[in-house]
Amino acid sequence: MATMVSLIGLVNRIQRACTVLGDHGGEGGSLWEALPSVAVVGGQSSGKSSVLESIVGRDFLPRGSGIVTRRPLVLQLHKTGDGQAEYGEFLHAPRKKLTDFAAIRKEIQDETDRITGKSKQISNIPIHLSVYSPHVVNLTLIDLPGLTKVAVEGQPDSIVEDIENMVRSYVEKPNCIILAISPANQDIATSDAIKIAREVDPSGERTFGVLTKLDLMDQGTNAQDVLEGRAYRLQHPWVGIVNRSQADINKNVDMIAARRKEQEYFATSPDYGHLAHKMGSEYLAKLLSKHLESVIRARIPSIIALINKTIAELEAELDRLGRPIGSDSGAQLYTILEMCRAFDRVFKEHLDGGRPGG
Ligand code: GDP
Ligand code: NA
Ligand code: MG
Repeated sequence: MATMVSLIGLVNRIQRACTVLGDHGGEGGSLWEALPSVAVVGGQSSGKSSVLESIVGRDFLPRGSGIVTRRPLVLQLHKTGDGQAEYGEFLHAPRKKLTDFAAIRKEIQDETDRITGKSKQISNIPIHLSVYSPHVVNLTLIDLPGLTKVAVEGQPDSIVEDIENMVRSYVEKPNCIILAISPANQDIATSDAIKIAREVDPSGERTFGVLTKLDLMDQGTNAQDVLEGRAYRLQHPWVGIVNRSQADINKNVDMIAARRKEQEYFATSPDYGHLAHKMGSEYLAKLLSKHLESVIRARIPSIIALINKTIAELEAELDRLGRPIGSDSGAQLYTILEMCRAFDRVFKEHLDGGRPGG
């Protein structure tokens, strides 16, 4: 059965409304907090950006050494029909369709600087980017600054703690699915991603372990212990990844070629051949999309409750402003109120229908 509206798409719209309202999940009981999402965490250079780009199948993230990601990036992927043009759209620049992914990268950089200045400061105000493409799965991912151990030139000493606190503020929410990225060429016991995931999710029920850089391990060693769940047990299976190397990026190896190379790597690997069907970026994307959809489905009743609370709050606020709506902020509240009512209806339909959507 075809679902009327994808649940992930619905939640995406509410998340955007929350950001417009200034709700980034700061206070307890906020609507944002009730919405399941996937946050990407890991140390600097663990391969976070590379994993995100592989999932999207396009190059579009700023890169470089040091902390490049200085604001959370809420990346909402929307699957469109075959043959449709791929484009990105920012919440802060609505109705501006960007088909050039290099322009998307530049806009992420510019928008980061707009809030943080050119300094190397970080900000917890998210940037929202939607990508529409026939080649993606419906999924929302939040890219967070990389965990680091020392401040570098030009950064305040507090940066290490500030980043850790920001990452923790996302991953400690019970509705957050943690995509924990660790590089295979470092001991898993020293992984920043696993360290924070273990702290907030000791049973491993909402953590997906991703092991990158399998191709960079020392000759004669392999990561079977990790990938088969013996080194660090999680409730979900570990997924191994081979991203583009820096040399590949310098040579402009495109994503499609990189994904093909990755599949070949697993299919022909003497160490991982038996796991090949559960490895790689494409498999990871599908796994996450399926999981997110099922988590949202399970949370529908609590989401409806919070939407109703939000509706009540918005109505009270509108009464305070006085109707008819005079001010811009009143008009905006009114729009959001209408949206909440629409969400309430659609979620209830999903609840009544109850059947899994396709
Ligand atoms: P981030 O800082 O966590 O976002 O890491 P990046 O995705 O920017 O990756 C850091 C560097 O590691 C880049 O030069 C990537 O090309 C390289 N890299 C990431 N994943 C892999 C991998 O699986 N294999 C190889 N060979 N290089 C990788
Ligand atoms: Na980096
Ligand atoms: Mg990065």
